[in-house]
Parts: sequence; C-alpha cells; structure tokens
Amino acid sequence: MKKLTVAIVTLFGAGAIAAAGAAIYIYSGAYNVGADDHHTRPVLAIMETVRSQSIARHARDIQVPDLNDPELILKGAGQYAAMCTQCHLKPGMKDSEIRPGLYPQPPDLTQARVDPREAFWTIKHGIKMSAMPAWGGSHDDMTIWSMVAFLQKLPAMTPAAYKEIVAKAPPDDDMDMGDEGDGHSHEHEAGDGAHETSPQIPAN
Ligand code: HEC
Repeated sequence: MKKLTVAIVTLFGAGAIAAAGAAIYIYSGAYNVGADDHHTRPVLAIMETVRSQSIARHARDIQVPDLNDPELILKGAGQYAAMCTQCHLKPGMKDSEIRPGLYPQPPDLTQARVDPREAFWTIKHGIKMSAMPAWGGSHDDMTIWSMVAFLQKLPAMTPAAYKEIVAKAPPDDDMDMGDEGDGHSHEHEAGDGAHETSPQIPAN
C-alpha cells in the first residue's frame, strides 16, 4: 500500500514538473514561430500524420460527382487560374514570389494528381496553420468540384493546353467581386491568364 502511494505521488510530481516546464517554455517566448525556421523532424512527422489522418477521415464519405464532365473541367480551369496559381503553380511556371516563403510549401499541383475526395475536403475547409484557405465560405460545392475536376487533368497539361483551356473558361465572378472590394491589390493576377481573356474584365 505504501509503495503504491509513493508511486502515485512520484507520478503526480513528475507531471506537475513537466507542466510547469512547458508553461515556462511557452511564456518565455523562446519558441521561434517564424515561417523560415522549420520544424524539427519529430514535430514535422507528427503534424504530417495528424494532417493526413484528419483529411482521410473527414473525406471518407464524400460522394464524388462525374469529374469527366467537360463543362465542369472548363469552369475549374478559370477558377484555378484566378485563385490558385500563385501558390500551386501552372504548367511552365517554375515558382512565384509568394511560394518560397510559405511553410509548409504548397504542393506543385501541376506535378501530382490529387485524390478527388481529399482535394474537395481540403479546398472547401482549408488547412489550419498553413497558407491553404477554406474556399467553402465563398464558393458552393459544385464550384469546388469544378476545381477538383480540373486538378485531375492538370498534371498532364502542357503550357499551351493550359493557356487554351483557361482562355475558354467562363470568367470567375467571385474573383471579380473581390477586385471591386479592394482596389488594386489584385493587379498581379492579370498575369494568370483568366482576366486577360475575361470579357468582363473590371475597369480597375
Ligand atoms: C496562399 C497560398 C495558397 C493558395 C492561394 C491556395 N493554396 Fe492550396 N495549399 C496551400 C498550402 C500551403 C497547402 C499545403 C498545406 C499543408 O500541407 O498543410 C495547400 C494544399 C492544397 C491541396 C492539398 C494537396 C495535397 O497534395 O494534399 C489542394 C488540393 C489545394 N491546396 C488546392 C488549392 C486550390 C484549388 C486553390 C485555389 C482555389 C488553392 N489551393 C489555393 C496554399 C495555397
């Protein structure tokens, strides 16, 4: 009985010391939150496992529509060109100004084909503590599926084929609305191709 009491007291003591240590570390400000200071290997491994397990579980029961519908793919091309290339690149684009400074680095979606369910969930909900936004707040599910459908075709696309499909794509209304809201801050997006070819290009 006495041994058990000693064991319990030791356990609580150790727990209290660990908690106090963690609190001191957190409040000291010693931890570097800078994006250019990368995680240690064990921390990175934990975060990557949390992310992939979480996405896999949340995406499990999502019903996938017909992703070979040409209209859907075309719509997705316009969405992608307007909102995604700065982080995820496009055929023929090797890097952007924003990409090297992001941590985690956004995957190059011209190289890897994404799983449709997981891509849908990720685009709709975003990923915490990363640069990946939740697009579901401003886009309905079918618009998000259009991006997923386009992403299935993107890795096989040449720069010329990409330019052609983006030129034919319907203009991205959501983005145009955003442009009106904040003046000239989106000017650089004209380079993406979508707005260059958009018949509804705003005056700004
Ligand atoms: C500001 C940068 C940024 C923008 C803009 C952005 N993303 Fe992302 N995206 C990221 C980052 C960073 C990740 C990786 C996050 C992580 O690994 O934790 C990511 C991850 C993803 C993934 C998961 C890829 C994989 O291999 O699992 C998909 C799919 C995706 N983004 C699609 C899109 C689409 C479609 C758009 C445009 C509507 C978009 N993203 C716009 C930064 C961005």
